[in-house]
Amino acid sequence: MYHSQATKHGVIRLGLSIVILAAGQGTRMRSELPKVLQLLAGKPLLAHVLACSRALAADDVCVVYGHGGEAVPAAFAGQDIRWALQAEQLGTGHAVQQAMPDMPAASQILILAGDVPLLRATTLQQLIDQTAVDEMAILTVDMEDPTGYGRIIRDDDSVRSIVEQKDASEEQAEIVEINTGVMLCPGASLKAWLLNLENNNSQGEYYLTDIIAMAVADGVRVHGIKANSSVEVMGINDKKQLAEAERAMQARLVDELMAEGVGFADPARVDIRGTLKCGKDVFIDVNAIFEGEVELGDGTKIESNNLIRDSKLGAGTLVHSNCHIEGATTGSDCELGPFARLRPGAALADNVKIGNFVEIKKSTIADGSKVNHLAYIGDAEIGKGVNVGAGTITCNYDGANKHKTSIGDNASIGANVNLVAPVTVGEGATIGAGSTISKSAPAGELTVERAKQTTIPGWKRPIKKDAK
Ligand code: UD1
Ligand code: CA
Repeated sequence: MYHSQATKHGVIRLGLSIVILAAGQGTRMRSELPKVLQLLAGKPLLAHVLACSRALAADDVCVVYGHGGEAVPAAFAGQDIRWALQAEQLGTGHAVQQAMPDMPAASQILILAGDVPLLRATTLQQLIDQTAVDEMAILTVDMEDPTGYGRIIRDDDSVRSIVEQKDASEEQAEIVEINTGVMLCPGASLKAWLLNLENNNSQGEYYLTDIIAMAVADGVRVHGIKANSSVEVMGINDKKQLAEAERAMQARLVDELMAEGVGFADPARVDIRGTLKCGKDVFIDVNAIFEGEVELGDGTKIESNNLIRDSKLGAGTLVHSNCHIEGATTGSDCELGPFARLRPGAALADNVKIGNFVEIKKSTIADGSKVNHLAYIGDAEIGKGVNVGAGTITCNYDGANKHKTSIGDNASIGANVNLVAPVTVGEGATIGAGSTISKSAPAGELTVERAKQTTIPGWKRPIKKDAK
């Protein structure tokens, strides 16, 4: 039965089930990875189709998988998805059949392909809105080169049938309107039609497209609804198409961010491989790559050539060129780089400065502290207002275990100091340059560990002997 219900989001339809076909082999990818797990904008192709499905608020989403075996369901473990195994790939009609046994009674069933990742939920919503529950609809598009696709055979404004490339007559092959693979069907009828499919065609497959002629024979109207762009419905079969889709998806993500007010030096020279959330007045220069979940606070500025992965940067933070930032967080108004590396667990408070050729790993650094040049800080807890001199390192690893370094507020660590962990430097302590500190350094005092400087009178440099 078809129902509709008013919610705060408007009217939603109940009784919509979605089947996503993802069992095909994807031979042309020439890859060990199943096709639907190939990455687009940092997420598997199938993840994009699932996101689009979720936006439609369907009652049931079933993915038909097969090639690649359990790797496909495993990649989406814990998500609310029904999985149907198609052990042998006997065609698109056979694939849809595999989803039927456990399917809840649905007034409408929407069929999507797992390798069409650029499809927008708004396009599908229009398809749904234009189709009565006892009607069928096919999303079509005009293709400059329709080779390889199923051709749409029309009767005025209704579709009469679909003819696959390999079964098409010369005349039919001239048709440029093609089947995108997206179909909306009345649930009960679809189940019946699938049972009547035969495989007596040139490929010996059970074609889903054969149900169109059955629908027409049953007096069901079949709408052919044209998509606005062929890019949106493009199917990904090989690495070249994957790269084309990547550019299209990047352009879309950047357009969305610009609409929210994010500034880009060049929208074509940025890559978002995951989710990028930005506050107000963020500016991003060229060749920035964002991976995983990244959040940039208000007024953040990202200079050129930065890789930022799974990190959260506070308001007003400035990232100079050529930094590598992963699993890090900063408070507000921090300054990083150029050439800084923040590794997982780097947690900076406000107004912290991390300068060039500095590596920070699993360390907290409190407000206003500075590590400006050529340093390594690992497994450390650094207080407020600390200055760490150039070339200073925490010796955190004894070859077997990691140990902690604690530095109190307002301490000043001279240049080229080795802090041999576990070790503590007290509040307001000063450490003389070149010291190797392996015992606690008391608060408020100067601690120096250094051999006494001596001069050897009359010492001469060795002289090179003549070659014989
Ligand atoms: C299919 C359509 C064609 C349409 C084209 C759009 C049929 C018979 N033909 O052709 O009209 O123009 O898509 O791209 O439907 N799949 C399975 N199990 C199978 C076979 C396929 O899950 O046994 C899945 C694939 O993983 C893919 C989708 O179904 O996601 C389409 O299959 P594909 O083999 O690419 O169909 P085409 O021959 O391209
Ligand atoms: Ca295909």
